[in-house]
Amino acid sequence: MKYINEIEKRRTFAIISHPDAGKTTLTEKFLLFGGAIQTAGAVKSNKIKKHAASDFMDIERQRGISVATSVMSFEYKGTLINLLDTPGHKDFAEDTYRTLTAVDSVILVVDSVNGVEEQTRRLMEVCRMRDTPVIVFINKMDRDGKNRFDLLEEIEKELNISLHPLTWPINSGKEFKGVYNLNDKNLLLFTPNTKATDADLLEMDDLNTPLLDEKIGEKDAAILREDIELIDGVYGQLNVEDYLAGKVAPVFFGSAVNNFGVREMLDNFIRIAPIPRARPTTVREIKPTEDKFSGFIFKIHANLDPKHRDRIAFLRVCSGKFERNKYYKHIRLDKDVRFSNPYTFLARDKDVIEEAYPGDVVGLFDTGNFKIGDTLTEGEKFYFTGIPSFSPEIFKEVINKDPMKTKQLEKGLMQLTDEGVAQLFTQFGGNKKIIGCVGELQFEVIQYRLLQEYGASCEFRAQPYYKACWLTSKDPKKVDDFAKFKSNNIATDKDGYTVYLAQSEWFLNTERTNNPDIEFHFTSEIHKDH
Ligand code: G4P
Repeated sequence: MKYINEIEKRRTFAIISHPDAGKTTLTEKFLLFGGAIQTAGAVKSNKIKKHAASDFMDIERQRGISVATSVMSFEYKGTLINLLDTPGHKDFAEDTYRTLTAVDSVILVVDSVNGVEEQTRRLMEVCRMRDTPVIVFINKMDRDGKNRFDLLEEIEKELNISLHPLTWPINSGKEFKGVYNLNDKNLLLFTPNTKATDADLLEMDDLNTPLLDEKIGEKDAAILREDIELIDGVYGQLNVEDYLAGKVAPVFFGSAVNNFGVREMLDNFIRIAPIPRARPTTVREIKPTEDKFSGFIFKIHANLDPKHRDRIAFLRVCSGKFERNKYYKHIRLDKDVRFSNPYTFLARDKDVIEEAYPGDVVGLFDTGNFKIGDTLTEGEKFYFTGIPSFSPEIFKEVINKDPMKTKQLEKGLMQLTDEGVAQLFTQFGGNKKIIGCVGELQFEVIQYRLLQEYGASCEFRAQPYYKACWLTSKDPKKVDDFAKFKSNNIATDKDGYTVYLAQSEWFLNTERTNNPDIEFHFTSEIHKDH
C-alpha cells in the first residue's frame, strides 16, 4: 500500500458523446475549473485548427477533425484529474473504444434535444462490457428539449442502464430556470447568457419555503415540488456501490456552454468517481497498490514532428510507481526497456516527468517497439486483458501501385496497424492484404500516411464484407476444417488468429447454424492465448 495517497488522489476518466452533444465545451469548462486554461474557447479552437495538442497530421487539420486521443491532467480541489480525450468523429470510433480500456469511469454527454444518438449507443455498449461506472450529463437545457421524464426513460431503455437523477431541471429552453440539487438540497438559478455566481445558489433544505415561489414563480415551484417528491419516492438515496459496479448512472442536467450545472457535476464526480481500480491480466488481478510497477499501452500516435518518425505510445500506469530511466520488461518482446524522456500531459503542454502513479497516463517516445495492448512490468510475465479489437465495418484490399516500394509498403502497413489505425488481415499466405476500418476516412489517412511517412503509394479495392468474426472452438480441428472449406472467406489477423469475413448477416447466420461447434466473435482479445 506504498502509494495509497497518490492513488486516492487520482481520477482517470473520459467524456464520451455523440458528435455535437457538447463534449468539447464540457471539457473546456472542466479545464477552466481546474485552472488548466484561462480563457473560454481554448479547447474549442484546438478542435478546429492550428496547433491543437491532439492534431498531429496535416490531413486532420485540413478536415478540422480531432483524430487523436490526448490526455489532459489538472488538479481540482486536491484531486488529480486525468481526462482522456476521445475523437468525436465516428470513423475513429475504435480509438475511442481503446481509450475506454484505459479509464476508470466515464461521463456521458447527452444532448437534451436529440436524446440518445447512434454513437452514444455504441460507446455505452463498450462501457457495459467492462462495467465502467458512468455519470450522465444532460446538456443544452437552455434549448427546448424533450420532456425530462421521457428523456430519462429513453436513456434507460436505449442504453440499458438504470439512471438516478442527482440534479433536476426546472423547465428547458427559454423557460429554463435552473436545477435543484437533490443531494446537497440547494437550488441553482439560471439566467440566460450570464455566468452563475454564488448569489444564484440558494440553500433549500425544505422545498416548501415561500422563497421557491418567489424565485421561480408559483406554477414552476409547484411542479418542482411534485417532481422532487416523485423522484425521492422512486429513487431515494444514490447507492454509490451500484454506480461503481456500473449498474446505476447518476444524472446531472445543465448547459455546458453556459457553464451551468457543470460544477455540481464535477464536485460530485470527485466525491464518487472511482480511484484507479484493480485490473485483470492473463495471470492474476493486479491491484494499483502493489509495490511493483505495471502498465499497458492503449494508444499509439504518429509522429508529432513530421521530420521524425518517432511515435508516442500512451502508457496507462496500473500499479506501483513508474520512474524515468528505470529498466522495465517489455513482455511481448521479452526485452528490457527504459525511457529517458517520458512525459505527462498537463493541460496542453507536455512535461518530462520523473515518476508516475496508477491512473496516470505517460507518453513514451517509441521507435516502433510498441503495439496496442503491450504490457510493461518489473519482470513478472503477464498481459493486461480486456483490450480487444472490434470487428471493422469496411474492408478494402491494398493494391501496391509502386512495386519498387513493396518493402516500404509492408513496413508502413505493419506499423500503422500496430498503432491501431486499422486492422490488417491477410489471405492466401499473405498474398492478399485486406485493411479493415470503422470508417472511410481512415483509408484516406492510411493512404496519406503511407505516402508521407513511408514513400509507398497504394490504392484500395472494395471488398464485399460486412464483419470480421474471430473463430474459436473447443475442438480446434473444426476451425481448421471450416477454414479449408471456406478459404475464400477466411483470413488471418495480425496475431495469426483465424477470421471469417462475412458477406452479410444472412451468410453469417447461415454459417453459425451450419457450424454449431464453432463460435463466431465480433471482438478479439489481443494476447488471448498467452
Ligand atoms: P462535441 O465536442 O460533442 O462535438 O460538441 P461541442 O462541445 O463542440 O458542441 C457542439 C455545439 O453545441 C457547439 O456549437 C456548442 O457551442 C454548442 N453547445 C454546447 N453546449 C451547449 C449548451 O449547453 N447549450 C447550447 N445551446 N449549445 C451548446 P457550434 O455552433 O457548433 O460551435 P460554436 O460556434 O458555438 O463554437
